[in-house]
Formats: sequence, C-alpha cells, structure tokens
Amino acid sequence: MCGIVGYLGDQEAYPILIKGLHRLEYRGYDSAGVSMINAKGDLSVYKEKGKVSALEESVKEKDVTGTIGIAHTRWATHGEPNATNAHPHYSQSKNLALVHNGIIENYKVLRTQLEKHGKTFQSETDTEVLVQLIEYMQEKHQTDLYTAVQRALTHVIGAYAIAVLDQRHPDVLIAARKSSPLIIGVGQNNNNAHGHAEFFVGSDATPIIEYTNQVVYLKDEEIAYMDRDGNLRITNLANVEQTPDMQTLQMNLDELEKGGFPHFMLKEIYEQPNALRNCIRGRLSIDTKDVILSGVLDNRRRFIDANRIIICACGTSWHSALIGKYFIEEAAQIPVEVEYASEFRYRNPVITSNDIVVAVSQSGETADTLAAIQLAKSKGAFVYGICNVIGSSIARATDSGTYLHVGPEIGVASTKAFTGQVITLIMLGLTIAKEKKTLSKEMFEMLVDELLQIPDKIQWTLDNNKDIEKFSQIFTYAKNFIYLGRGYNYPVALEGALKLKEISYIHAEGYPAAEMKHGPIALVDEEMPVVVIAPKKGMYEKVVSNIQEIKARKGKIISVVTEGDTTVKGVSDFCFTIPDTRDCYVPLLAVIPLQLMSYYVAIAKGRNVDQPRNLAKSVTVE
Ligand code: G6P
Repeated sequence: MCGIVGYLGDQEAYPILIKGLHRLEYRGYDSAGVSMINAKGDLSVYKEKGKVSALEESVKEKDVTGTIGIAHTRWATHGEPNATNAHPHYSQSKNLALVHNGIIENYKVLRTQLEKHGKTFQSETDTEVLVQLIEYMQEKHQTDLYTAVQRALTHVIGAYAIAVLDQRHPDVLIAARKSSPLIIGVGQNNNNAHGHAEFFVGSDATPIIEYTNQVVYLKDEEIAYMDRDGNLRITNLANVEQTPDMQTLQMNLDELEKGGFPHFMLKEIYEQPNALRNCIRGRLSIDTKDVILSGVLDNRRRFIDANRIIICACGTSWHSALIGKYFIEEAAQIPVEVEYASEFRYRNPVITSNDIVVAVSQSGETADTLAAIQLAKSKGAFVYGICNVIGSSIARATDSGTYLHVGPEIGVASTKAFTGQVITLIMLGLTIAKEKKTLSKEMFEMLVDELLQIPDKIQWTLDNNKDIEKFSQIFTYAKNFIYLGRGYNYPVALEGALKLKEISYIHAEGYPAAEMKHGPIALVDEEMPVVVIAPKKGMYEKVVSNIQEIKARKGKIISVVTEGDTTVKGVSDFCFTIPDTRDCYVPLLAVIPLQLMSYYVAIAKGRNVDQPRNLAKSVTVE
C-alpha cells in the first residue's frame, strides 16, 4: 500500500499535502514524509516515523514553504519503518526527491549495478534505488527529468506509482505508474486564460476532490509531465504520446475513502484479487515456476531438519493456520500442529529446539500470540512470523518471517488478511516441500501455476455471485446457522460461521460435515439454514450424502458448488458458484461468498459491520 500526494500550483503546497496524507492514512501509517521546493529553489525533505501527526509535529520549526511538493504515508515493504526508510528519498546529489508506492522486485540487482557506478545508499528501501537510477539516467544521457524517468522505468520490474521533484526545475512535476494506482487532478482554472494552473497527484481521489473534480486516471506504464503553464503531457514507456482521458468525479469524500464502497469490509472483500496479487508478487514466479520465500531460504537448514511445525494463532488467523496445516503436511510431509495461542501459552507444551513455531497474526499485536512466541523461544524453538502489519510486535519478536503485503485491513472482521494468510502458508508449504524434495517437479510446478490463477478466480467468484445481496435478506429471521465442510473446507466452515457471528450477531457453528450426525443434526428443522461447502472434489459424494440427511429433516440448504455442478444445485435452496481449482486452493474461493453473505445478512439486520459490538481489531490484552 502507501499513499502518495503531489501538488504544483500557486497555493502553498504543505497544507494541501498534509491534508491529503491524512486522507490516505488508511493506506499505511508507519512513517510519513514531505518534500517541497521553496522560493529560493531549495529542495527540502522532512520525514518522521509514525503517523502523519508525528510528521506535522516534527516540522513545526522547519521551512515548509513552497508551491510545489510531494508527500507520502508509508506501509513498509522493504526496510523497517523508521525515518531513514520513510519517503521521500533524495538522489545522491540531493537534486531529486521521489515518493513511491509499490514494490520494485529487481531492486537488489539494480542497487548492485548503481553501487558499481558510484552511487551510495542511505536506506534499505527499494524506492531509493529508483531515485538513484533516475539520477544516473540524467547524468549518463544528459537528459531532462521526464526522459530520465522514462528510461529508468524501462529497467524496473515490479509495481510503482511515483511522483518526482527536481530542484533545478521547480515548475515541473513528474508522475508515473504501473500496477499501483495514481490519479492526476487537473485544476479548475487550467484552461482559463486568466486562471492559475494547478495539478494534484494522489493514490486515490481523496486528497484531490476538494480542489477539483476533473481527474485523469493514469494507466499502466504511463508517465505524466505537469508544469505551471497548465501543460499536461502523458506518454508511455516507449515515448508514444497518450491522450489524457479526463473524467469528472461524481463521488463525495466519504464514498471515496472507502473506494466507493459503503463499508471498509466490503471494500476489503472486493480488494482481494489485487491484495493477493501483491501478496504473491516477487515470491511466486510465473517464468521460473518457483517460490521464493527468503525468510525460509535464509534459514534453510532449520526447516529441512525440523521435527515438526506448531502454528499458533487466534480467531480468523487460527482458521487459516488449520488450512496451512493440511497443506504443509500434504506437500512437505512434516507433522504440523495448530494451537490456540491462548491455550498454548498456559500449558507446558513439549517443545524442542528442532521444532518450528509459526505465529500467524494479521495485526502482529495479539497478546496471546505474542506470549506463545515468548514461550516457544524460551524452549529453544525457531519462531517464524506471518503478519500483515510491518514492524509490529510479533514481526519484531520472531526469528524470521513473511509479511502478507495485502495492505491495511480496517474492517474488524478479517477478510483479505485471511486469504493472504492462507496463500502465505501455502507458499511456506511449497518452499519447504521444494527444499525437502517431497513433491515431484511436475506437481510442484502445477501447484505454482494454479496458485498464480487464484486472484483471477477470486475475481470471477466476486463477479458471478451478485445475487447474494438479495437472498441474504431472507435469512435475517434465523437465530442459528450451521456451516459444514470436509477436509480443506472444514476450516472454511469455521471461518464462515465466525464471520456471520462477528458482524450479524447470529449464532453460527462450523462443523466437519460428517460430524454433524454426532450432535448438530438434532438442531435441524425447517427454520435452520445449513451452509454446505460442496465443491466437486475429494469427498464430494460423501458431502452430497450429508446434504440429503439435512434435506430429509427439512433444513434449508445454502451450498457452495463448483461451476457447472447440477447435482448439489438441484437439492439446494440457494447456491453460490466458484470456479474449479485444486482441492487445497478451494478455501481461497469458497470463503468469498461466505464473507459476502455474512456482510449482507448483517447489513439487512442493520448492524455496524466495520465496528461490531464488543470486538476489537487488535486484541492486545489477554
Ligand atoms: C480479533 C479480531 C479478529 C482476528 C483475531 C486475531 O479477534 O477481531 O478478526 O482474527 O483478533 O487477530 P490477529 O491480528 O492476531 O490475526
């Protein structure tokens, strides 16, 4: 994630930039920075660890004048959250300053090459490589800033949205994007002979909307040149001129902050295809059909020699851990146990130095998970963290780990972090399997290939289940729900039930489908909705029998089926469809309609879905 703001015009830039950063804080808030060129032509850069308010505090005595500037609020990817790694980054000569949102995948190679050409680096970030590369292009080819940016970007692999300043050209602002969003706001008076030209840049329209509703959504691999005379020129990387597609924004500020969605939860559900593309970016390779998790590869021996893996987590993270267990055991042939961190920490578990404890936590702050890590470490285990929040307590307390990179999750009910955790645990399993040679090359490559398809298949699932909203209204009467699944889909049943409980306050239980006859079946009557995850996979026939048992007792069947399936559809009262995939990846698709259903049932019941009663996003107490 990360948020970018830029301004060029007649007004003082600093207040516009700071206001814009506050609006973008939902995109990350571990550090922030701002850069302006003042009337004397000096380029300043001020950065601070923490939220935007910390930056404001730290620049109180500084010169923040200037009518051109760029700013950034960070969600760390490379390098811990501190002032040095915060943006904007200077080039070596300090003539350039740059802000960036995205991940430069080949930054290590580029950095080594630039170091050979005499560039020295201040930070650990991939971003500093970009600004140094642009300066190198300016020096080598004696070109203007625009051409240097264009040339530099042809060497970059990865995702970027950038804005760049050059103190030798205080009338020019350059921006570019690929795979990360960037919007240009065009001042209301730019085409008026008496007016003063103004341009705004933002990761979304929230920093722009109060000044102008005329915007251009920059497209992939486009570079924009803006100047004080009101010129806006856009080309692609090959220098082919593009016609700016000017649009008029219709949304208000509140709608914009939630990306046009009424709630953060719905926005985060719909964000999943892109969030997961970010999660696998730089880790799964389409070309080499490989998985690269450096946190594992740097500790290769520990993983190869491990006796077993114990995964500790709470809530939704515990459900993803369970899916992780099934996959890691199957793929890497190593025993995996899944523990509630709150139980584990107060037992006297048998742990040896040959054990690996994996802590899974969205927030990285859950007190019980943190305590479980401390216990595991005191007993000599190697501790691996899977967290979303960069620099969080759990991320710092673990020996190694992997970040989800799905962006900040604001809705209390976890959605994109769940699917991010599942994919990360699968990548962990694949990496260990490769090291231990427990999968054939063909199987490994097929699993990598299929995993790469998952974001698109989630998109398909979102696009093809639009009637969930309508039919969810029917179930507001229900006092109880049962969710059933087998194998990989048992944890999905648990997660579906938890989502419904959390935000609609309807009691729901998740059960392994075959266990139903040992108790929950007594609850089934014509009032009882039973959600069955029944993809045309592994234990399909057996799940169909379970459905018949419920039907015989007049229960209402809501099923999740594979596209094209007619058998389960025929006996279901309501049906959600997902595309075909491998058994182990079904949870990533099957959970999507369940997230949507819980959202729409809660909305129909008038609940506050983003902040449900009694719950907290980050549970830092026991
Ligand atoms: C709270 C949240 C849940 C989350 C759980 C664990 O209960 O409401 O959404 O799954 O904590 O949090 P963690 O940050 O450790 O994943």
